Amino acid sequence: MREQFEEVLLEEEQIRPRVSEIAARISHDYEGKDPLLVCVLKGAVFFMADLTREITIPCEMDFMAVSSYGTASDSSGVVRILKDLDATIEDRHVIIVEDIVDTGLTLSYLRKSLSARNPASVEVATLLTKPTRRKVDVPCLYEGFDVPDKFVVGYGLDYQERYRNLRFIAALPEGKL
Ligand code: IMP
Repeated sequence: MREQFEEVLLEEEQIRPRVSEIAARISHDYEGKDPLLVCVLKGAVFFMADLTREITIPCEMDFMAVSSYGTASDSSGVVRILKDLDATIEDRHVIIVEDIVDTGLTLSYLRKSLSARNPASVEVATLLTKPTRRKVDVPCLYEGFDVPDKFVVGYGLDYQERYRNLRFIAALPEGKL
């Protein structure tokens, strides 16, 4: 599997301790607040699964699916909710769990959409961020790793639905896009 990638950016052994660190920070910051972690499907599933299992305080989970219009590798900022939350978030401390913040357009929309539902607070935990690609500034309290301006796959992230099941995160060669 590894040979087909330009470069392995993050090995499983690097991802695991970083996820644990974020879980420890969340456990500390949200003590007594019963946070609701909102996983953005499908890319954030493994991050969500690993993160929540390392959180040591009571918390709840919900799931949302969005599609952003645009090409496979470039989002447009026009976002459609494919699956909404199961429950109301009024007065809840919400943490949006994302796979990657690229332009920031999807997250910016999500943040606004959830903030409009009167939660007690909304913060963001993203595994990856591509700071050089940002078009809108979205505050992310918890960030795992910076990645370069390359299309990355693995640990939940896909290219045309493939590669989500990789245990590592790798850059897809330009020619494959
Ligand atoms: P944004 O709206 O440009 O920030 O893009 C956010 C969404 O695009 C992410 O939640 C991912 O689903 C997808 N995305 C952006 N960059 C990548 C990448 O390098 N690999 C896989 N998916 C990506």
